[in-house]
Amino acid sequence: MNIDAILKELTLEEKASLCSGSDYWHTEPIERLDIPSIMVSDGPHGLRKNDENADGPNESKTAVCFPSGCATACSFDKELLTTMGKALGQTCKAEKVSVLLGPGCNIKRSPLCGRNFEYFSEDPYLASQMAAAHIKGVQSSGVGTSLKHFCCNNQETRRMSCSANMDERTFFEIYAAAFETAVKEAKPYTIMCSYNRLNGVYCSENEFTLDQVLRKKWGYKGLVMSDWGAVNDRPKGIKAGLDLEMPTSFGTNDAMIVKSVKNGTLDEKDLDVCVRRILELIDKTDMSSQPESKWDMDSQHQLSQKIASECAVLLKNENSILPLDTTKKIAFIGEFAQKPRYQGGGSSHIRSYKVTSALDAVKQFCDVEYAKGYAYDTDDIDDSLIAQAVQCAERNDIVVVFAGLTDLYESEGFDRKHMKMPENQLRLIDSICEVNKNVVIVLHNGSPIELPFADKVKGILEMYLGGQAVGGAACDILFGKVNPSGKLAETFPMKLSDNPSYLNFPGFRDDVAYNEGIFVGYRYYDFKDMAVRYPFGHGLSYTTFEYSDIALSSNSIRSDDELTVTATITNTGHCDGKEVVQLYVSDVQSSIVRPVRELKGFEKVFLKPGESKKIMFKLDKRSFAFYNEAVHDWSVEEGDFIISLGSSSRDIRLQANVFVSSDDTIPYLLTLNSTFGDLISIPEGKKVFDPYFEKISKYMSGDQQGETMGSSTKQMVESMLWYMPLRGILTFTDKPLMTHEELDNMIAEVNSTLQK
Ligand code: BGC
Repeated sequence: MNIDAILKELTLEEKASLCSGSDYWHTEPIERLDIPSIMVSDGPHGLRKNDENADGPNESKTAVCFPSGCATACSFDKELLTTMGKALGQTCKAEKVSVLLGPGCNIKRSPLCGRNFEYFSEDPYLASQMAAAHIKGVQSSGVGTSLKHFCCNNQETRRMSCSANMDERTFFEIYAAAFETAVKEAKPYTIMCSYNRLNGVYCSENEFTLDQVLRKKWGYKGLVMSDWGAVNDRPKGIKAGLDLEMPTSFGTNDAMIVKSVKNGTLDEKDLDVCVRRILELIDKTDMSSQPESKWDMDSQHQLSQKIASECAVLLKNENSILPLDTTKKIAFIGEFAQKPRYQGGGSSHIRSYKVTSALDAVKQFCDVEYAKGYAYDTDDIDDSLIAQAVQCAERNDIVVVFAGLTDLYESEGFDRKHMKMPENQLRLIDSICEVNKNVVIVLHNGSPIELPFADKVKGILEMYLGGQAVGGAACDILFGKVNPSGKLAETFPMKLSDNPSYLNFPGFRDDVAYNEGIFVGYRYYDFKDMAVRYPFGHGLSYTTFEYSDIALSSNSIRSDDELTVTATITNTGHCDGKEVVQLYVSDVQSSIVRPVRELKGFEKVFLKPGESKKIMFKLDKRSFAFYNEAVHDWSVEEGDFIISLGSSSRDIRLQANVFVSSDDTIPYLLTLNSTFGDLISIPEGKKVFDPYFEKISKYMSGDQQGETMGSSTKQMVESMLWYMPLRGILTFTDKPLMTHEELDNMIAEVNSTLQK
C-alpha cells in the first residue's frame, strides 16, 4: 500500500470515515482506493470472533478458552505466555482476524475490581513482563494485539465516567509502569484507551497519556483505538492521538471531525497523522490476501490444560496431603467438580468448544465418590445437599472440595461488594471439616477471596479461572502428575478492610482518590508489616529448593552500569520441580518514602531431584530508581541497596548489598518559606546558614540571658526551628541579624550552587 499516495487521494470525508469502525468489529473500507476493511475481535485468552450468521454483535464462534490473566500471571513464565500467544495468533490468522483485543494489564488496585480476572497483577513489573510475553507470541503470527485498557482502569463501577485521581509519581511508578515495558519491548500493533478519566481528563482525549507519555516518552509508533464507546469528544481525541474510534458511531463523530477541520478548530495535519497510522495497521494486518491456514482445537485444548497446570498455585499442603494417595477413598464434593468455573463474564467470554471437568479427568487416576454440595447458580444454602455431602465426607478418607466464586460474583461491568465466598459453599466446607480431617480445597476464582477455613483444611490449591481444560489440570496436580509451580501474582489479604484502597474504592460519585499512592498490594502490606493470608509470590511445590551462592558482578556500581546477580538453586527433594526465584530490590536509606522491597526480576527454573542450576539476573538503572516528580523522570538516590532473592516476597532466602553511586540530583530550590531543616540538611545550605541557626536557637532557649534552659527545652526549640521558614531569621532575635534583601541574596547564592 502506498500510504503517501493514498493520503493525497483521500477526501476529508473519507479520512474522517477511516477514523471509526464500519460496524462493531471492522474498520471502514474505501473501495475506490482499494483500502480493505480489517476485523478485530476479543481477546485476551481466546478468540471471541463474532459469528457472521448470528443476529447480534456478541454471538461468537466456538474456540478454545485458555486460562485468564489472573492465572497465567502466576506462572511467572514468559515463555509459557508466548506459547499461548502463538496459539492465539494462529487461531486469529486462520479465522482472518487482524487484531486480537488484549492482553489487559491494568493494576489490581483492589481485589474487588470485577475485571481483575482478566488482568495480571498488583505489581507493575510482573504485569508488564507478562503482557509483553503474551504480545510477542500473538504478534509472531503477524496478527496484532491491543494492549488494554490504557490506563488507570482499575474498577468497573462507573468505569465510563469515573476519574482516577492520583499524583504523578503514583501514575508512573505503578499504573503506567504496568504498560511501559510491554509497550517498549513488545511493541503492540495497537493500544486500547480506557473508558475512565485520569485526573479529570478522559483517556480517549488525553494528551498527557496518549501523546506525552505513550508517544513522546515511550516512543510508541502504533495505533491507539478507543475502548468500545469510550469516545467523549472526537476532535479532541484526534488531537491527542486517538486514531481509531470503535465501534462505529454511525457517522456522527466522523461528521464532527469534518466540521472541526472546516471551521479551523482541528488541524487537518493532526487528522492525517491518525489516518496514516490506521492505514499502516491495515497494510500490516490485512488478512484478505493471506493464504488459508488451519488451527486445531484439540491440540489447543491440550495446551490449555498444560498452561493451566503451570499456573496453579499450591497455597497450603499440611502434612503433604497432596499429591493424593490413590490407595485411600477419595471424595470430590462441590458442583465446580462437575462444572468448573473457568472463565469470567463479559467481553472476554469464550464460547468453548469443550470443557474438561475434574470429574471427567479424575477417571484416569482413580474412582472417586461425588456429591454436589451446593448449586452452581445460587448462594442459597441447600441443607439436603449439605447433608448428602457430609455423609459422603464421612464415608471417605480424603475430601476434595471444589469451591470459589460463581459468575454472580465476578464479571466485567460490576465490582464485587466484598471478598467473601458464597454462603452455601462456606457452610458446606465448615460442615465437612467437622466430620473429616483430611480436607483439600480447590479454588476457582478470578481474584483473592477471604479464606476463613484456611486453618481448618489441610490443602488449598488455587486454580484461578484456568480455562476450559482446568479440570484436567487440577487433577494432574492433585494426583502428582504435575508438580505445582505457580506463585501468587497478588496478595491474599486476611480481609478486605486490610487492602490499601479500602477507604477509597470505588470512590465518591465520579471521583476516585488513589490516596494510597504507590503503596499498592505488597508494597503496602510490607510497609505496614501486616499479617496477610498469603503473600505476593507465595506458592508451594511437592519438592524443596535450596538457594545458595549469591554473587554480584560488583559491590559498588554507578547508577547507569548494569549489575549482574547470580545464585545457585538446588532441588533438594524427591521429584522434578520448577521454582520461581524472585528478585527484590530495597533502598536502604532514602530521602523519599519507598516500599520495603520491589520486584525487579524473576526466573523460573526446572530442576530434577539433586540437580543444581546457576541463575542470573541483570539489573539496570531502573531497578534502583524512583519516579522523581521534581525532574519528571526516574532518579537513583546514591546509597546502599539490598538485593534479595526469595521464594516469595516474605520468604527471602539470600541477600547481598550493593552501593550505587549516582549523579541524579534531587533538585530542590529554596525559597523564603523553605525550612531551616531543609536548608541545613544539604551541605551547601549548612555552610551558610548554620551560624544563624545557632544564634537563634541560643536566643530562643534563653541562653542569651544567661538562664540556661534544660536539655528538653533546647530540644524543643531546635525542633521548632528545624521546621521554621527561613523568613523567621528576620524576626526571632533581639536585634536584626540581616535585612530582607540580604536574606534574599543568601538564598539566591545557595540556589545558584545547587543548580551547578
Ligand atoms: C471492553 C473491552 C473489549 C471491548 C470489545 C469493551 O466493553 O472494555 O475490553 O475489548 O468491549 O468487546
